Amino acid sequence: MSERRPLISGNWKMNLNHFEALRLVQELSYEISRDDVDAVDISVHPPFTDIRTVQTTLETDRIPFFLGAQNCHHESSGAFTGEVAPSMLAKLNVAYVIVGHSERRELFGETDEIVNAKVKAVLGAEMTPILCVGETLEEREAGEAESKVETQIRGSLARVKAEDVASLVIAYEPIWAIGTGRTASAEDAQAMCATVRAVVRDKWGDTAADEVRIQYGGSVKPVNAAELMTQPDIDGALVGGASLEAASFARIVQYRLHDL
Ligand code: PGA
Repeated sequence: MSERRPLISGNWKMNLNHFEALRLVQELSYEISRDDVDAVDISVHPPFTDIRTVQTTLETDRIPFFLGAQNCHHESSGAFTGEVAPSMLAKLNVAYVIVGHSERRELFGETDEIVNAKVKAVLGAEMTPILCVGETLEEREAGEAESKVETQIRGSLARVKAEDVASLVIAYEPIWAIGTGRTASAEDAQAMCATVRAVVRDKWGDTAADEVRIQYGGSVKPVNAAELMTQPDIDGALVGGASLEAASFARIVQYRLHDL
């Protein structure tokens, strides 16, 4: 199995104005050590209005976090009022773009087809998509979690080349665990992340499956991060609520230091 570098990402959602964003990034830079960034890739995903401020702070203060975005449009320019193009994010040194978050799928009607177009657009702008997949509680209770996630992966990554699949990040986020305080057990999270990897292996082959990084997301906190992060098929975490406070996000990044 190849060595996959862990990636821990903070999805700030629609929280923090640019002053608050600046403060959080600075606080995080005090909490997170050189050893931490040697061991783990860290990305922060502020709202669009904060990205330029966060970029300037990261670059001026040489803070080694990757800059991320939460969404983008799939076209490169044009009459799409209110939308942001991938190339505009790339110009701000955005490295990772969350694509197909369940809130985008559920609240803004994003289908696998739209998500597929966004994945390709993000790759085309030389950024890395963090593709989100995950089942609802009803689907889990009906025994449909695996088939839902398989359909989302095949649809969202349709006609994406194996070498591109190898380079991207897939976040498995059970919808019932997002923002609810109800985390999937480490066993369930591992089983689903293993399913994600198996689907990638089946469709895109061994190299893509061994190299693709798979995050777990859904109520990740300092108390459960270590147990989740040490599962063999979990290579990172996509963190919502707990990423809004420097101390809690730093403790998640430092999961290696905490006893299981
Ligand atoms: P949460 O959000 O950590 O607040 O559950 C995770 C996410 O939606 O990415």
